[in-house]
Amino acid sequence: MTQSNYFSLKFIRKDSSKENDKLTFLDQTKLPIEENYIQTNSYERIAQAIEKLEIRGAPLIGIAAAYALALAVKSHTNNVQDKFDLALKRLSETRPTAVNLFFALNTMKDHFLNLDNPNNAYESLLNKAKEIHRKDEEYCSKIGKNGLAIFKKKSTVLTHCNTGKLATGGDGTAFNVIKTAFENDLVNFVYANETRPLLQGLRLTAFELEKCGIPFALQTDSSAAFLMKQNKIDLVVTGADRIALNGDSANKIGTYNLALLSYHHNIPFYIAAPSTTFDRTIASGNEIEIEFRNKSELVSVYNTPVASENYDVFNPAFDITPSHLITGIITEEGLFNFPYNFPK
Ligand code: MRU
Repeated sequence: MTQSNYFSLKFIRKDSSKENDKLTFLDQTKLPIEENYIQTNSYERIAQAIEKLEIRGAPLIGIAAAYALALAVKSHTNNVQDKFDLALKRLSETRPTAVNLFFALNTMKDHFLNLDNPNNAYESLLNKAKEIHRKDEEYCSKIGKNGLAIFKKKSTVLTHCNTGKLATGGDGTAFNVIKTAFENDLVNFVYANETRPLLQGLRLTAFELEKCGIPFALQTDSSAAFLMKQNKIDLVVTGADRIALNGDSANKIGTYNLALLSYHHNIPFYIAAPSTTFDRTIASGNEIEIEFRNKSELVSVYNTPVASENYDVFNPAFDITPSHLITGIITEEGLFNFPYNFPK
């Protein structure tokens, strides 16, 4: 059943009793066909949701993991440290590339280690998770406003993957740059790459663009060069999963292709991401671990086999765009132009 409004994830406490506390999340693997919300109080279920991409998008993965860590200790008053450590390990093994996950886990861990009474950790961890969630919402809104600076005229924009409400704790990163510009009469049309193989563009960005009333067309990822060649694109904006100190940025597989095409066609290419996407421990993108995903994502489509299971596949979930191909990076702090030299 289609609901007029939607959210990616909400922490719900009913009847002011923590006993029924649950995280409610929208199962993104079923969108846009079904808007199916799942409720859980299990950190293991949240870890599985992150692995399966029921919950996805760099900032949202971090927020979900923070709530999961709080839920992991909810019913425990003894050996709380052991329960916390177990959940921390499990969640840190779900997806390797988006640094927002590790930012959230480390923030929760530091908070836990500074508690006076770790055996009574639940409410305090929950408040910390809510703070991470709230801050991301605020970052999204600032990114949207800061992104206005990249529009010199009313523009047609190309984007890749999904970076909206479904991927963050607020209205999105790259998506919110587009949405805010549209609301300010600076965007007239959006092309959304389908984003093979899991179709985050075709399924999720289209869902969000439609909800926002933004005119758009979907296209195969491989149409981008042809589209640019016809002078149909004024600028490209995408999100990121991890940004190194020199500006090299990991994002959904196919982003690097778009950056190269933009360079060739002299089209500005921007990345929008909150500060939690910056990895201040790495000098360049060479140090970013790229997630490789299951063969089944390629050789079958919606559980229907389309190629032999016996074939080898190359299925990286992300690629790395070198910083010299990125015209600017929009964060909650402002717009940064190449060359980048982000502080440690
Ligand atoms: O594999 P996904 O769907 O989690 O990948 C998401 C992306 O690559 C997004 O562009 C990125 O996380 C930024 S979300 C604001």
